[in-house]
Amino acid sequence: MSIQRFTVIGAGQMGSGIAQVAAQSGFEVRLHDVKEELIRKGLAGIEKNLNRQVSKERISEADRDGVLSRIQPAVTLEEAANEADIVVEAVVENMEVKTSLFRRLDGMCPTHAILASNTSSLPITEIAAATQRPEQVIGMHFMNPVPVMKLVEVIRGLATSDAVYKTVEELARAMGKTPVEVNDFPGFVSNRVLMPMINEAIYTVYEGVATPEAVDEVMKLGMNHPMGPLTLADFIGLDTCLYIMETLYEGFGDSKYRPCPLLRKYVKAGWLGKKSGRGFYVYE
Ligand code: CAA
Ligand code: NAD
Repeated sequence: MSIQRFTVIGAGQMGSGIAQVAAQSGFEVRLHDVKEELIRKGLAGIEKNLNRQVSKERISEADRDGVLSRIQPAVTLEEAANEADIVVEAVVENMEVKTSLFRRLDGMCPTHAILASNTSSLPITEIAAATQRPEQVIGMHFMNPVPVMKLVEVIRGLATSDAVYKTVEELARAMGKTPVEVNDFPGFVSNRVLMPMINEAIYTVYEGVATPEAVDEVMKLGMNHPMGPLTLADFIGLDTCLYIMETLYEGFGDSKYRPCPLLRKYVKAGWLGKKSGRGFYVYE
């Protein structure tokens, strides 16, 4: 199946990154969020990224303008969905929000459209069951920051068809990414491995073993990680980290996935990391 019209739902850090890369790869993109101002904010972030590429002489001003002209803001979900060949959903990591959105998309998208979720951890099979087209529902898990990171985890739900899997794999390649096939288990591979490390790093702060700065320094200088785990947690979003830990904890029923109480406390305080201006660190 050929993909031309690419819709992204959610214009936050992941949705705007996915929209940018899709438009840079030549697709016609529609970008939707719950409020027009959030779409505008997402578009402003994309423009800033493209301007940085212009200043580094990686792309021309004409390239930048071409990319921006391929991203149309869609204020209503109907407008975002009605001509899509594929929808990639990147809204908050919450099963109720995602299933309700997929149910609505199922009623609005053309029958051939693929409905993909960028979920970090939630079961694709359960999201798919909210629609009448579970064979056309799939996980397309990009990594943050989307323009930089090469991986797309492609997650098959129980009913995902081979044809849909193949189309999404080809789409990831057309976007300059490397797809890796993963089955549908909580956290898939990426967050089943990454998030317990981040959670454990938070426990070391909670238990007074070391400061956030010291924990990050140990992992950066000792393990050659590009960012320490607490800087990375702030970068991902502490709300997203907590939702992922809860999915692992509930999904496997194993105490090794228990979210650190300090993580819960920060999220309750509204300290969500870089996006809210405060997490383990303070951002200007
Ligand atoms: N958006 C777009 N481009 C960005 C960017 C952003 N937010 N941040 C950095 N970049 C670009 C820079 O423009 C620069 O580009 P060029 O090489 O073309 O000049 C390049 O990335 C390197 O940036 P910097 O030199 O400023 O900084 P750096 O070398 O420290 O790299 C980083 C920044 C790529 C983010 C690096 O720190 C890194 O790899 N961090 C770890 C990221 C990671 O682990 N991501 C996965 C998170 S988990 C996830 O995504 C899954 C989930 O479900 C939670
Ligand atoms: P974010 O908070 O930056 O953005 C989420 C956006 O979704 C917000 O702008 C919000 O207004 C919008 N939204 C919420 N409900 C909506 C709805 N019903 N319809 C339309 N828009 C809606 O979050 P993010 O970091 O971009 O994460 C989005 C998704 O991507 C989550 O499922 C997350 O788990 C996943 N993800 C996150 C990362 C990461 O590092 N942050 C990496 C990979 C995957």
